[in-house]
Amino acid sequence: MEEMDAAVTSEVDRGKAAVQQAVTMGSLETLISERNRYIGKAARLRTLQRQLGQLTPDERRRLGGIIQQGLAQLTQAFEQGEQTLERAALEARLLAETVDVTLPVTQHPMGARHPISVLIEQMCDVFIAMGWQVAEGPEAEAEWLNFDALNFSSDHPARFMSDTLFIDPASEHRIMRTHTSPVQMRTLLTNDLPVYVVAPGKVYRADEYDATHLPVFHQLEGLAVDKGLSLADLKGTLDHLAKSMFGAEIVTRLRPHFFPFTEPSAEIDLLCFVCHGQSAEDPSHPCRTCHSEGWIEWGGCGVVNPRVLQAAGVDSSQYSGFAFGMGIDRTVMFRNNASNLRDFVEGDIRFSRELQGVAR
Ligand code: DAH
Repeated sequence: MEEMDAAVTSEVDRGKAAVQQAVTMGSLETLISERNRYIGKAARLRTLQRQLGQLTPDERRRLGGIIQQGLAQLTQAFEQGEQTLERAALEARLLAETVDVTLPVTQHPMGARHPISVLIEQMCDVFIAMGWQVAEGPEAEAEWLNFDALNFSSDHPARFMSDTLFIDPASEHRIMRTHTSPVQMRTLLTNDLPVYVVAPGKVYRADEYDATHLPVFHQLEGLAVDKGLSLADLKGTLDHLAKSMFGAEIVTRLRPHFFPFTEPSAEIDLLCFVCHGQSAEDPSHPCRTCHSEGWIEWGGCGVVNPRVLQAAGVDSSQYSGFAFGMGIDRTVMFRNNASNLRDFVEGDIRFSRELQGVAR
């Protein structure tokens, strides 16, 4: 009998030692297999329990109690061991995943959108809101679309090398477009009527780069062709654009001009919003914004020349239209008081940020 008592005690002691060891090793896996060994179905204490039937009732009760107690102690020891190991694992993970917020970081400066891109979007939005579409055309353009189709005579000065950048070989008659107007022709050739489109984009001229000239600049072209359109529709559309760009108080005027692809043609001027035209009358108060002209030239426009419609196969006895084209860079200059065109191309982010700050 004492033998069995001793066996129970030593089994319980060994079980507790096994828990200790597994905890020291930090191994949950070991703990689980040891638990199986000491209190699982095939555990020694369970075998002893099964042998109790051979004993006298008194002995059975006494030894049964001791075994029960031993199993209870071991169950508790394994549970505690498991909790200890789980806590340690969690702590280790938290430690491993700690983020040191005091570490220095590499800062990547934020960029800024170029004022031209922002303005192109704003101008197009004015037209999208009226149901117009936005069109695009290539910057390397057929000479025919840039000039001939727009009724430029073959000896028109704009065609000279001094004004226009020709692409080699000259025999292919390709140029860098000098205005966005060829998109008018492309639109008429590919779209069904009526047509209401604006086309923003880059244009090229053989100009020297300085504070007031860029060899590459931007224009916004507009074209509407429908039945019954007139100069009044043109004026209303441009006034709406001007108000959207410069505020409700802006005053515009159409000044007669000549363009081969519109008839009649005009230039649209803005009443100088700095001196309100005063500087033109009063030489003692010169104005830098309008160079004391009183008015600022904004763009060209007119009623589409029937010859242009005919070149695109449009029946000019049924349809009429109006067109306009203005400098986007110039618009940014007036709106934001940016007087040096060099700032537009030098890519200094401070320029973009500053203009964004004052954009209407
Ligand atoms: N393409 C002209 C230029 O670059 C501007 C222009 C004038 C566009 C009259 C038009 C227009 O659509 O109708 O100077």
